[in-house]
Amino acid sequence: MTQPLAIAPSVLAADFANLGQEVRDVTAAGADWIHLDVMDGHFVPNISFGPAVIAALRPHTDKIFDTHLMIEPCDAYLEAFAKAGSDYITVHAEATKHLDRSLQAIRALGKKAGVSLNPATPESVLQYIMDKVDLILVMSVNPGFGGQSFLESQLQKISNIREMIADRPIRLEVDGGVTAQTAPLVTKAGADTLVAGSAIFSGGTQDAYQKNIAALRASIAAS
Ligand code: DX5
Ligand code: ZN
Repeated sequence: MTQPLAIAPSVLAADFANLGQEVRDVTAAGADWIHLDVMDGHFVPNISFGPAVIAALRPHTDKIFDTHLMIEPCDAYLEAFAKAGSDYITVHAEATKHLDRSLQAIRALGKKAGVSLNPATPESVLQYIMDKVDLILVMSVNPGFGGQSFLESQLQKISNIREMIADRPIRLEVDGGVTAQTAPLVTKAGADTLVAGSAIFSGGTQDAYQKNIAALRASIAAS
């Protein structure tokens, strides 16, 4: 069951000195969700921000907060990210020894549970947790940095997962190198939720963000 398209700008590509305004601008520009990339310098080779920053951003928009945890271990921090105002909390299958338990913990906090797969991780890890997940995030770059090139190898994985989802109300999200060129490929493969950092925040103004989001939507509609 494909859900309505959601465009989720990643604030990793926003001006970190001005994040509240950036979130307001991208909301006004037509974002559906706000994607929040949390990096620990351990699971991924970069450090971004934590729950205090997410809590500070919460009053700046009423859009869904889509928190993507690239941290290992993750279980000890789930409550903090729930309290910070996340709506979805996504953990990496590679970053938790007990994925089933981590997903149950997120739902027990009253949040939607997501699982993310690195490009080299096969979709078979999802087989026994399909009924405990609200969102599946396919990484189409190796996580850690914005502005990388889309990995076409992930298109097959996206369509395989779309088949696995069948009629479950699970969102299928793609993150990394999503642009007006690659967006139609991922939606054709079966994705319904698109993360984009550089492709949305380039230009640095609300007007530019609006044009960038419109260009993404137009590229999908035209395909
Ligand atoms: C990468 C992050 C992405 C990143 C995407 O580790 O998970 O969300 O911000 O950036 P772009 O859209 O520039 O590839
Ligand atoms: Zn992300």
